[in-house]
Amino acid sequence: MSYGNIENITIMKHPLIQHKISMLRDKNTGTNEFRKLVEEISILEGFEALSDLPMEEIEVETPIEKCTTQVISGRKLALVPILRAGLGMVSGVLALVPTAKVGHIGMYRDEKTHEPHEYYCKLPSPIEERTIVAMDPMLATGGSAVDAINQIKSHGGIKIKFMCIIAAPEGLERLNKAHPDVQIYVGHLDRELNEDAYICPGLGDAGDRIFGTK
Ligand code: PRP
Ligand code: URA
Repeated sequence: MSYGNIENITIMKHPLIQHKISMLRDKNTGTNEFRKLVEEISILEGFEALSDLPMEEIEVETPIEKCTTQVISGRKLALVPILRAGLGMVSGVLALVPTAKVGHIGMYRDEKTHEPHEYYCKLPSPIEERTIVAMDPMLATGGSAVDAINQIKSHGGIKIKFMCIIAAPEGLERLNKAHPDVQIYVGHLDRELNEDAYICPGLGDAGDRIFGTK
């Protein structure tokens, strides 16, 4: 594997994340449980991904005295799920930063070519001054994530992070090479892609499992 900027890749090791990903993988995990797990993993990954959020000082009066103290500059964060499956991650990160703005990018992969096709894009404006967290549970060939981030950059996005739950080495390498400036957070790095460009061992089709389709 050759990467563009390995320093911008964080692979999660936390036992809680690994445990919950194991539950997600199980084909017997039903839709309700699957959604809850995606939300919980997103909270745990979000905690790490947001550890360098911009802060601002406010003045507060405690029962003892007035003080200046720090709060997150919530207006400066934008979450951008890649539809459909990325939607399952939004509530987890919003639980951490409820004031974040939310944009959406719609992408689907062609079943034969595995190339991504964009069908929707609506981002908070202005986007330049925000930290943007793009999210999608699956980073397979990397095509969807690369195109989504191209789109965010073409709208003016500068400080961009990408959160996924499971990545294939092929997709991680492609994304990091195409966007070496983007900080990437991966719940677990899996073995490889199969001939249908599904991640192995993976968890199957994330969108179908979150929304109970198929
Ligand atoms: C899945 C997944 C990613 C994409 C990853 O979406 O949620 O967006 O595939 O694959 P890639 O890295 O090879 O581009 P899918 O196209 O199945 O659409 P859906 O979320 O609407 O089900
Ligand atoms: N999209 C998914 O949902 N799962 C994969 O394994 C690959 C792409």
